[in-house]
Amino acid sequence: MSFDVKAFRNEFAFFQQHPDWVYLDSAATMHKPLAVIAAELAFYQKDNSNVHRGAHQLSQQATTLFEQARDQIAKALNAKRREEIIWTSGATQALNMLASGLMGTVLKPGDRILLTALEHHANIVPWQFYCQQHGVFIDVVPLTAEHELDLQAYQQLLELKPKVVAVAEVSNVLGTIQPLEKIISLAKVAGAIAVIDGAQGVVLARPDVQTLGADFYVFSGHKLYGPTGIGVLYGRYELLDLLKPLCFGGEMIKSVSFSGTTLNQLPYRLEAGTPNIAGAIGLAAAMCWLNNFDSAALAAHKQQLFTKLYQGCLAIKGLELLSPQQNNAGILALNIKGEHPTDVAAILNEQKIAVRAGTHCAMPLFQALQLPGAVRLSLAAYNNSQDINRTLQALEQTVELLQ
Ligand code: ALA
Repeated sequence: MSFDVKAFRNEFAFFQQHPDWVYLDSAATMHKPLAVIAAELAFYQKDNSNVHRGAHQLSQQATTLFEQARDQIAKALNAKRREEIIWTSGATQALNMLASGLMGTVLKPGDRILLTALEHHANIVPWQFYCQQHGVFIDVVPLTAEHELDLQAYQQLLELKPKVVAVAEVSNVLGTIQPLEKIISLAKVAGAIAVIDGAQGVVLARPDVQTLGADFYVFSGHKLYGPTGIGVLYGRYELLDLLKPLCFGGEMIKSVSFSGTTLNQLPYRLEAGTPNIAGAIGLAAAMCWLNNFDSAALAAHKQQLFTKLYQGCLAIKGLELLSPQQNNAGILALNIKGEHPTDVAAILNEQKIAVRAGTHCAMPLFQALQLPGAVRLSLAAYNNSQDINRTLQALEQTVELLQ
């Protein structure tokens, strides 16, 4: 399987602007290929109008493009119906919509939900906020000594009959790919709704939501080579239909009077206000552009780089690796023993190596790991071997400098 990383990298104008930088922060946001930038630009230059509302032809054209983008996402995820695709501003908004929207419909006082110890704050805090208000209890699947989800504890916690299990497909800190099929099938047997946070997982492969059996799957466009400010909430139609909207106004309404309001049907009922039209078109363009490449070759290239990075780091004395090497989506969390991650990242920044440091919006995970934070190196298919060589050299120098 051959993969031309040079040609792939040339798709990104960013690297021509910054040839001296090594970008290892793709888990925070990915760079956008020219195809995505061109699609957004073309929308604003040629097709800009608001959707659904206009009596004019320009609005109808914008609506067609916007709804075609929805169709493309529905097809890519193998959703049963296009109405199952709801545009959001990202995974965070989608999770907030689920936590608020399931309360009072699916979740009643005294019910339980199940989260895990490695969730991103966006898959913890909205649940906490609305569960407190509605008297719903939260249980947490702990980690094993190897920093993996404790599946035995998961099965025991399922005996408490949670109504919802909400879990990340990939840990945004450790990069661990979770055994989703198993997690979902066990949740189903226990009668729970499965919510999957696909923010870091969607780039691995577009999920076939029907095969996967997820009731809800959320992701952000900007972690799939798409624009920021756009994301997707996929939901099984019957469950989406139960969801109470978090926001009101605009196309989500059928009729309003001061004696009451009737809401529109799905998908519009959950899309208040003017949507990010260019963003939706840009995300669809990202998915379409990705289809030009052999996904297995992209994955193999990233895996090869990750192995080189991991092995190289193992050989540097003084580094403490937190991520697993196997079953990893291309994210390496590490520390230099005794040093603060922010200091390490600052030194790497001096050498033009872009990484993230801190608790990565996953404080409970760091409480479980009993660490103040970590430096996170995250890869994408546009990284190359030179990126890894420079990073290993910079890490070696940083260890020498600090110790
Ligand atoms: N959630 C993103 C990250 O993990 C921003 O960095």
